[in-house]
Amino acid sequence: MKKKDFLYLAHFGIKSIVFKEKKPILGTIILTDYCNLSCKHCAVNNINKKMHSYESIIKEMKRFYSTGIRILFFCGGETLLWQDKGKNIRDLIKEARKIGFYIVNVVTNGTVTLDIPEADVIFLSLDGMKDTHNLIRGDTYDTIMKNIDDASNSNICIYMAVNKLNFKEVQEVVEFADKNPNINSISFNFHTPYKGTEHLTLIREEKLEVVSKIKELIKKKMPIFNLYSALDVYLKNSWDRPCYQCIVSEEGKIYNCGRCVEVEGLCTECGYLFAVEFSLLFNGNVRAIIDMIKTYLKYV
Ligand SMILES: C[S@@+](CC[C@H](N)C(=O)[O-])C[C@H]1O[C@@H](n2cnc3c(N)ncnc32)[C@H](O)[C@@H]1O
Ligand code: SF4
Ligand code: SF4
Repeated sequence: MKKKDFLYLAHFGIKSIVFKEKKPILGTIILTDYCNLSCKHCAVNNINKKMHSYESIIKEMKRFYSTGIRILFFCGGETLLWQDKGKNIRDLIKEARKIGFYIVNVVTNGTVTLDIPEADVIFLSLDGMKDTHNLIRGDTYDTIMKNIDDASNSNICIYMAVNKLNFKEVQEVVEFADKNPNINSISFNFHTPYKGTEHLTLIREEKLEVVSKIKELIKKKMPIFNLYSALDVYLKNSWDRPCYQCIVSEEGKIYNCGRCVEVEGLCTECGYLFAVEFSLLFNGNVRAIIDMIKTYLKYV
């Protein structure tokens, strides 16, 4: 990241903390809700089965930029299935760079080629080692491994949603990420219990076990892209939400924090660690700010 970009983000952070501003800095555009999978824990696939147009996405990027957003995520459905008028994800990222975004990331299930050198970070969902991942996500593990091996860049961050089926495999997945030369880091979320997926939620003792494990692995300098200090706050469930520094846009409709903000009662059960981390950072939590500087400068 360039020095002037870092200064813009620092200035934004200071203004949000001191003046309690509720402006967004991170925006996510949902490109499509089409998905080739139907994972056990997911509630956002194939609802309207829409592929959003290239023009509407470009318009949304420009709108985001003009409101001050500088960190952009593309998400789905399956993000990498998106195409329109001969354009694909790489074209969108190039346009985002031209508009001026500092960081442009994508989130994917990894079943489509991961050769996207234009992305700063490719968040690749992997929900356990082979058998467990396939139980949650269908028979996709081998395809994903091949796509990781074939990727020309090491800009991949494993994205694991920890739930009842996979929480015993956290260490194994971290060790896998650490050893693979094309993987740069690993980031965790905990299961968020959308209707029909409540049975996948960890009980308190299980959450405690996973948090202790992740903290132990961070201390061992494993490449974990979560803030150490946010993990205990997640356990206490004592953070302010929704997070006003993040917005999501789907078909021009804007949601603060996540689309999940509209699901009654879900925020109190939220397992998305990014929301905990942003909430702490923009409330001026000094430990989180120090962790952020250490972590983000290492992996972004
Ligand atoms: C909705 S998916 C969209 C992008 C892409 N299809 C994928 O699977 O990465 C984005 C991320 O949300 C995670 N996710 C889905 N449902 C979740 C839930 N109930 N709780 C926590 N994370 C969830 C997925 O595991 C994935 O890492
Ligand atoms: S691949 Fe992503 S969008 Fe598709 S069902 Fe799984 S978590 Fe949901
Ligand atoms: S706090 Fe944010 S990420 Fe968590 S459930 Fe609510 S809207 Fe979704």
